Amino acid sequence: MTGALKVVPNGSVGARIEGIDLRTAGEGEIAAVMQAWYRHDVLVFPGQQLSDDHLLAFSRRFGALDSPPNQGAGRKSPPGYPEVYVVSNVLDGSGEPIGALGDGEALWHTDMSYAALPPDASMLYALEIPSTGGDTCFASMKAALELVPAPLRERIATLDIKHDGTYDSGGYLRKGMAPSADPRSSTGTPHPIVIEHPVSGDRALYLGRRRNAYVMGLEPEESERLLEQLWRCVEASVYRHRWTPGDLVLWDNRTTMHRRDAFDPRSRRVMHRTQIKGTSPPRRARSGP
Ligand code: SIN
Repeated sequence: MTGALKVVPNGSVGARIEGIDLRTAGEGEIAAVMQAWYRHDVLVFPGQQLSDDHLLAFSRRFGALDSPPNQGAGRKSPPGYPEVYVVSNVLDGSGEPIGALGDGEALWHTDMSYAALPPDASMLYALEIPSTGGDTCFASMKAALELVPAPLRERIATLDIKHDGTYDSGGYLRKGMAPSADPRSSTGTPHPIVIEHPVSGDRALYLGRRRNAYVMGLEPEESERLLEQLWRCVEASVYRHRWTPGDLVLWDNRTTMHRRDAFDPRSRRVMHRTQIKGTSPPRRARSGP
């Protein structure tokens, strides 16, 4: 470690990491970053200067990379970089978006939780940012679980939610998917509602997305009622990130959810994202105090 690396907690979920150049970080610095990550769940690295090669090299220090999601609108990756996911409203010469999610709000979600093995983490690097709007908010799902009343926590300890893969967080139908409003039959994967982090052991509420979610085994109306109760706890602890070009944000996809504000469609926002492949499927939390 260089000794200059500083971890500055945000006061809610997350921390800012100062004094590190992600292009050249040494083993000691990476170990310190890992420790901070398990503790704070969301890490902001301001003032970076990363090419896609740097972004991929830094991402790989956290594990193997996952392919980008099957998104609704827009191209997926920059040419030659299939593991980089472009999030952008910018159009290319033929009027096609160069990336996903447009300029609208992206609703609260966990990345790719509709998959059997969702990514452990994601990283988002800011290249171009509008002067206002487009903030990304991160919610601690550990804090969310704490807010769930004890009898309800006991009830959900053994239940699973089916995570829908039909629509992305911008509301776009994913490519090749049939529109569906019935979460019982739509494409998706059930996961435990309360999970534990495989390294820290911390427990978290694992909700994925609200749209087309379904609590397995319940009548649809009962599932909706239960989900409404749980979603009321989501914003227990939230960090709002106002982007500056050169910011990289890394989040734990098991213990946080995120959403993005809409922004002026006339402005440009270009972000490059990577996903760290899951090491194990979301694991049901062991019962206990
Ligand atoms: C995402 O959901 O990964 C993108 C968030 C953002 O555009 O800020």
